[in-house]
Amino acid sequence: MPEPVVVEPNFFEVIGTQRAMRRLKTDPVPEAYIKRIIWAATRAPSGGNRQGWRWLVVTDAAKKKQIQEWYEEAWTRYTASGYGNARTDLPPEEAKSNDAVLKSANYLAAHLHEAPVLIFACALTGPGGDITAGSSIYPAVQNLMLAARALGLGTALTTVHRAHQDDVRKLLGIPETVETAALIPVGWPKGKFGTGLRRPVEDVTYWDAWGAKRQ
Ligand SMILES: Cc1cc2nc3c(=O)[nH]c(=O)nc-3n(C[C@H](O)[C@H](O)[C@H](O)COP(=O)(O)O)c2cc1C
Repeated sequence: MPEPVVVEPNFFEVIGTQRAMRRLKTDPVPEAYIKRIIWAATRAPSGGNRQGWRWLVVTDAAKKKQIQEWYEEAWTRYTASGYGNARTDLPPEEAKSNDAVLKSANYLAAHLHEAPVLIFACALTGPGGDITAGSSIYPAVQNLMLAARALGLGTALTTVHRAHQDDVRKLLGIPETVETAALIPVGWPKGKFGTGLRRPVEDVTYWDAWGAKRQ
């Protein structure tokens, strides 16, 4: 199996340009790439090093289509109930960025099944669930997405499918004690990686007391 090719070796460039890539080509992603990004996921910390995660990789066309239909149904319901409505109180740059996110999220809802790979990040939370076990999945998800970026693969962290979690569980044979914490489409991006809009560090960092900023 040929080794995956790292296309972006600069760590801070990877972090700075890892963003939701929702427009993906249908071209297949070699298994070695999938294994490498899951390897990166499994390097993440977890509560008590329990590693309470499983990565369910879906490439079956019929299953992907079914998942897309559930995803789109839930997404349409969210947007119809006001989610993502244009806000009038935002600075123009942020309003523009939100608008772009909404357009790209709409695209994903209609095209999710076209992604060659869907990965469910599954948390083994156990009966009743547990916040430590449950939250340990997200550092791992971020590792996976950063590794994907370094290999030139686009990803997006999504959660909309959770409105149909029981259906997804039945389709994929996932036990009820397992939470499908995220659904990550993976594929070669149609567009270019870029920097997402974020507030400056100075605006979101306080020193020694709440609200105390340094420039
Ligand atoms: C917990 C969480 C849940 C998310 N759920 C969805 C989702 O269901 N669908 C989607 O398209 N994007 C989802 N996103 C992606 C965000 O919309 C995205 O990270 C944000 O808009 C920043 O976009 P950027 O990375 O392109 O800058 C989610 C992100 C997080 C952290």
